[in-house]
Amino acid sequence: MEEYKTKIIEEGLTKIEFPEFDKVSSDAPVFYNPHMELNRDLSILAIQTFQKEQDRELNICDLFGGSGIRGIRYKNEIDGVGEVFINDISEVANHYERHNIELNNLSDIEVHQHDASMFLRMKRGEFDVIDIDPFGTPSPFLDSAGYCSRRDSLLCVTATDTSALCGTYKEPCIRKYNAKPYKSEYCHETGIRILAGFVALTLSKYAKCIEVKMSHSTEHYMRLYIEVKKGSKRTDETLKNIGYVSHCKHCLHRQTSMGLASAIDEVCPVCGEKLIHAGPLWLGPIQNSEFIQKMIDEADNKQINSKKEALRLLNKCLEEASAPATFFDVHKICKSLKISAPKFDLILDELKKEGFIAIKTHFNPLGVKTDATIKNIQEVLIKLQDTI
Ligand SMILES: C[S@@+](CC[C@H](N)C(=O)[O-])C[C@H]1O[C@@H](n2cnc3c(N)ncnc32)[C@H](O)[C@@H]1O
Repeated sequence: MEEYKTKIIEEGLTKIEFPEFDKVSSDAPVFYNPHMELNRDLSILAIQTFQKEQDRELNICDLFGGSGIRGIRYKNEIDGVGEVFINDISEVANHYERHNIELNNLSDIEVHQHDASMFLRMKRGEFDVIDIDPFGTPSPFLDSAGYCSRRDSLLCVTATDTSALCGTYKEPCIRKYNAKPYKSEYCHETGIRILAGFVALTLSKYAKCIEVKMSHSTEHYMRLYIEVKKGSKRTDETLKNIGYVSHCKHCLHRQTSMGLASAIDEVCPVCGEKLIHAGPLWLGPIQNSEFIQKMIDEADNKQINSKKEALRLLNKCLEEASAPATFFDVHKICKSLKISAPKFDLILDELKKEGFIAIKTHFNPLGVKTDATIKNIQEVLIKLQDTI
């Protein structure tokens, strides 16, 4: 093993040592990204919440270990964890994973060196939590995760190929997720829904279905926490949540159509222009308020560095749980009307006063999730011009 100059960092209650690097990159001898601390902190809250809900000991698989930070933190910082399995295809990563287990004086953690899909298939049905945190897309590993996941288990999935999911590059999204993206102002939400839809369709082959407990799009990545359930009838039922979002780039109207092979309108019912479709994607819930509230409560019991940021995000996601799919970017609407944007909170208040749902979204600070139509919103924006 090559000798490296190393660095020790602390996250939560855990110390991790890894070879120093200049830039976060997959070329580093062992991968560690400090910008993912929020992701790991939220994972601690989500898995702890799931453990309490299940009221049993959880065996966890950290499928792409890197420095081992996830698996080691899960064992060190979550109550009710049984065995942890850390896997990584890299021998150097395995070396540091073992070293970091010792550094934290932990036992009941196994280290393995396999391709992720092979490892899952070798250990089929043994995990209560599978954490998929690869470079780029999780797509190639989801089939094995679907085949190998247990009923009532938790699947945590990260995707960093947001340019594909959000539609900057259409073809990679079609290749990897068998879905057409569209780069609208709410493309991060359609991206998460494409990912969730792909997980649901992949798992359905094995008569397994999904319940999304929490999801978020932050910086360069998207993350899903999904409870896996089993049963063909149940799966058929949940697949009714697969559908399409159709968008009019002329007047900014959008609509959804439920069903994988449903009839989709070709023209915008508001202005008559051609609609653009994104999907298939998941139109079911992508936030579960009960689960998220428990994650928020759990934050009081955990020592996490990102607590403020985590709570801000969780509170937004909690609100979003009761909101309809997609959101409107009020600045974009004002620009299309060639008017100035009123204060954001005034817009929310006015929409609510008129009887509509009006909720902020973590996807975009100027986004409003609402059941108002584009015409309703335009009227509100025009009405508020005298407040500017
Ligand atoms: C994004 S890093 C994991 C980061 C880690 N989970 C964390 O939170 O710091 C991806 C890891 O997957 C490993 N890897 C890449 N391809 C793999 C494969 N096919 N099977 C298993 N591990 C793989 C890499 O060696 C790398 O350590």
